[in-house]
Amino acid sequence: MTLSIKELLHQDQPLAMVVANGWVRTRRDGKDVSFLELNDGSCLGNLQVVVTTGPDTLSGVTTGAAIRVSGALLESPGKNQRWELRAEHIELYGGCPEPYPLQKKRHSDEFLRTIAHLRARTNKYGAVARIRSRLAYGIHEFFQRRGFHYIHTPIITGSDCEGAGEMFRVTTLDPRQGALDPADDFFGKPAYLTVSGQLSLETYCLGLGKVYTFGPTFRSENSNTSRHMAEFWMIEPEIAFADLVADIDLAEAMVRELVGFALHDCAEDLDLFNRFVDPTLLARLTRLAAEPFVRLSYTDAIDCLRCSGRAFTFEPVWGGDLQSEHERFLTEDEFGKPVVVYDWPADIKAFYMRRNDDGRTVAAMDVLVPGSGELIGGSQREERFDVLVAQIERRGLVPEHYWWYLDTRRFGSAPHAGFGLGFERLLMLLTGISNIRDVIPFPRTPKNLEF
Ligand code: 4AD
Ligand code: MG
Repeated sequence: MTLSIKELLHQDQPLAMVVANGWVRTRRDGKDVSFLELNDGSCLGNLQVVVTTGPDTLSGVTTGAAIRVSGALLESPGKNQRWELRAEHIELYGGCPEPYPLQKKRHSDEFLRTIAHLRARTNKYGAVARIRSRLAYGIHEFFQRRGFHYIHTPIITGSDCEGAGEMFRVTTLDPRQGALDPADDFFGKPAYLTVSGQLSLETYCLGLGKVYTFGPTFRSENSNTSRHMAEFWMIEPEIAFADLVADIDLAEAMVRELVGFALHDCAEDLDLFNRFVDPTLLARLTRLAAEPFVRLSYTDAIDCLRCSGRAFTFEPVWGGDLQSEHERFLTEDEFGKPVVVYDWPADIKAFYMRRNDDGRTVAAMDVLVPGSGELIGGSQREERFDVLVAQIERRGLVPEHYWWYLDTRRFGSAPHAGFGLGFERLLMLLTGISNIRDVIPFPRTPKNLEF
């Protein structure tokens, strides 16, 4: 019977004959006995394998080797583990000759990024991958339980949702053939990788009521920061017959429930980050799940920053975007918890956000969190046809390009709202990892496309 190491470590009874597969993390040799720590990725914990069958059994079984062990699972006399596997037979799948890049016990994150194809075999990156997988499941569960429909919005698109011009071009034309005419291209018009599924999602929202999408998004912003990547995953819900308050309520419920889910479901892996990355992590997450977020209008946020007495590199002025030093001050120093900033100046936000009656702000919100900054961006959408057309034109965009989007306002328009949550930013919050490149298997950043 082959069992995963997770299953073996959770047994209640000894087992006379079992098989375990995995990679050797360490090998210690005594006089007549050798000990292997075996890991198969099923959980953080290793299985102790005890080998007394002589040195021949262990030929080629070094750190990093992949092996199959059969034997008896018995109570361990050692105090660090309940069970151990007394090996009767060991089979070597793949040896691991020197120099093995993961030979040392501890490696820097920078070094491990250069061997992203091997880092899944470390405790830390194995744990990140498991948390990432469980959270993706938890997100679907969160929405499905609430009656949301999962909509697959397109990856290849003809429109720039955010209007920020940070799109990757998709083409089958060969640049060596001279000038590129979009009319000759695959789609007969310019095509891009999506920066957000929102516009497509809105059309399904105004028909299915409560919807969400969860997929990869692409941005060519050339900012080499610890919080941005060219390819990241975004969760975007969209709710009909809803205003900005309902949107913020959903965002807050989602973040708090997912943090609670992770604390419960990923306890062993989170504990690793609490021990080795951030000793305040578990306490912080527990508080985050338990306490309401701060809600602050943009205008009040600017006042709060201006009255803080802090010497910021960028002076906070009404009408400007919040810089990360401002986000840090609000979430880390002033309130010590997530802060929802709402009602932003219209001029720095996207065309689809609903104009407020004051004539200068829109019903937009950002959820800012300690450490990773902006986690969520969202808004109530402009549902009034004439106002929406005017906003498109004001930004120099062409209403005809958005004809299908505008149709939803022409026919049966209704108030609706939604937001986008950056999946990697959530994982940074959950693990305390400070560089976004370390919460995705293969990060895509400027001048970096190795794996
Ligand atoms: O605030 P953003 O740009 O919002 C939108 O795209 C909306 N259309 C979403 C919506 O309302 N449906 O992006 C949403 C979130 C950000 O708050 C951030 O967490 C994440 O996506 N994000 C990035 N994450 C990693 N790398 C990047 N380059 C990111 N850009 C945005
Ligand atoms: Mg944003």
